[in-house]
Order: sequence, then C-alpha cells, then structure tokens
Amino acid sequence: MQFFVDTAQADDIRELNGYGLLDGVTTNPSLIAKSGRDFRTVVGEICEIVDGPVSAEVAALEYEGMLREARTLAEIADNVVVKLPLTLNGLKACRRLSGDGIATNVTLCFSANQALLAAKAGATYVSPFIGRLDDINIDGMALISDIRAIYDNYDFPTKILAASIRHANHVKTAALAGADVATIPPGVIRGLANHVLTDKGLEQFLSDWESTGQTL
Ligand code: E4P
Repeated sequence: MQFFVDTAQADDIRELNGYGLLDGVTTNPSLIAKSGRDFRTVVGEICEIVDGPVSAEVAALEYEGMLREARTLAEIADNVVVKLPLTLNGLKACRRLSGDGIATNVTLCFSANQALLAAKAGATYVSPFIGRLDDINIDGMALISDIRAIYDNYDFPTKILAASIRHANHVKTAALAGADVATIPPGVIRGLANHVLTDKGLEQFLSDWESTGQTL
C-alpha cells in the first residue's frame, strides 16, 4: 500500500519524506486555505520535495474552466495529479485529460457507482472519503471493499486512494480492504509507529544496557 500525506504544509512533508515513508501528497482547497499561501507556489514547492504524485484540485465547476485550470496546474511540475470533483463535468474533464496523458484524481467519491464512473472516465485515482461517511453513520470501509471488488471484476486500472482518513484504525482497515493508496494526515502517519509496549520495552532495554556499563 502506498502512503500519501494529506496536507499542504511543506515542513510536515519534508519531515515525513525524510523518513522514507512518503509515496506522494494530496492537497485540497481547504488545506490550501489553511496554509494561507499562494496555491501555485505551494504546489510547486511540494513537487520539489516529493518525487511522487502531488494532487492539486481545480476550483471550476464547468467543463471548460476545469480543463483550463487543470492545464495550468499540470504545467507546474511533471508529478502534478489534477484533482477533479466527482460530477458529470468532472468526469468529462477526467476523460479528456486522461486522453491527453494528464494524471487525474477524481475526488469526493461516496458511492461504488460513482467509483465505477470514475474508472470508466479513465481516472488515475479515485478518492473515496471514508471519514466523512463514518461521520454520517455509513461504513466507509465497506465502500472501499465494494470498489475493490468492482475494479477487480473488470480489471480497471484506476487506483483506489482511501481518503478522509482520521485515525490509525482507518489505515489498517483500508489496507485490509485492498486500497492501493491511503492519504493520511501527518499526525496519523506519525502515530502509526507508536505502541505502548514498544515504549515500555525500549525503556527496559535501555535501563538493562546502562547497567552493563558498556558502550558501542
Ligand atoms: C483527500 O484527498 C482529501 O484531501 C482529504 O482526505 C479530506 O479529508 P477530510 O474529510 O478529513 O477533510
């Protein structure tokens, strides 16, 4: 499973990339607004830090506007993936951009039928939002499993990018359900390494090592 970090904060991206744990980055308009910085500058900076795919989302709702914005974003760097909303216009733009060789991420996916349409439109990635479904009492992980089964039935190459991940258990269940990628907030990625028994074991080992009086 690939790990993308879901943030527009360059410091977090630099740190996590330094651990060798990052395969890519996703941003969205809310994360860009939170950064308080110029969109194109931020995307360019992230693309220089990370070699893998960096998703940047269009803001237009109509087809021509989406294409214009997508091309502007794709010119920033070779690793930009254009994020398009799961609407009919977004799917139409996806089909056109895919034909032009531009990588796409169809976002705001909340049903298996929407994911089926994204695959038919030639999307590189589809982003089912697990956490937002959980928020309204719908099992987000069942959606990942359904999409996996459908894509496997027809050998669709579109990658399932589990999004809106809120905690470590989402990462585990997305991996079990066969998501190709998880896009994860920085704090959740760091937290995956934590275990109370690791801390306890390390404390004991260090104390025993000190008692030997040896050094390496
Ligand atoms: C995915 O690409 C989105 O940026 C993100 O995962 C949305 O997460 P949220 O529901 O926590 O805002």
